[in-house]
Amino acid sequence: MTPSSRVQRPRLESGGTNSPRKKAIRPVPRQRTSTVFLVGFMGAGKTTVGRALAAQLGWRFVDLDDHIEARQKRSIAEIFRESGEIEFRRAEATELRNLLAGLPVTGAAVVALGGGAFVQKENARLLKAASAPVIFLDAPVHELWQRTQQSDAQRPLVNAENQFRQLYEMRRQRYMKAEHRLETSGKTVEQVVGEITERLGLSGQPATGREVT
Ligand code: S3P
Repeated sequence: MTPSSRVQRPRLESGGTNSPRKKAIRPVPRQRTSTVFLVGFMGAGKTTVGRALAAQLGWRFVDLDDHIEARQKRSIAEIFRESGEIEFRRAEATELRNLLAGLPVTGAAVVALGGGAFVQKENARLLKAASAPVIFLDAPVHELWQRTQQSDAQRPLVNAENQFRQLYEMRRQRYMKAEHRLETSGKTVEQVVGEITERLGLSGQPATGREVT
């Protein structure tokens, strides 16, 4: 156990009969956060940062899109192509509900949501009700675009750059409703992980490293 995660013991009052009654010092409560949600636009680094954060905390990493693909036995691109975006959003909302319902038994987790999940009002409402921290990973849109161009991931909503920019502008206000916003531009994955653990008061290990991609 690291010193910062240790619960402080209350100091015992030595008290003779004449000593004034002092208020007992309350122990600092143990950090109760056991799920962290990462949201943001495509290319924000949700999966990369999520994996690194989970590894550092010794928590499970969950990628909601992976759950959707496993349940549907087809890729996100196939779901979009064969059934359309509305069906994908329905599957995404169902998977988020299932995940939230299972969290008390599945244990501590870092969860990366697909870029459109937090934009859906009902999903945002569910996350708020779950009272787990939601972190918006942000970066300038030109950088997000570049990251998607350098990635092998098949993203059905990545077509022309101007459409990508428009979608980002439309969604940004929703992302801004997240409890925390972290700028990732020019930072290493480990720096971002460090900022998250610090912001949330979660104990972490020192790190070195590679840039958010
Ligand atoms: C989407 C983002 C994707 C994936 C799907 C839709 C979106 O996830 O969920 O293609 O609407 O922004 P990533 O943000 O991980 O690329």
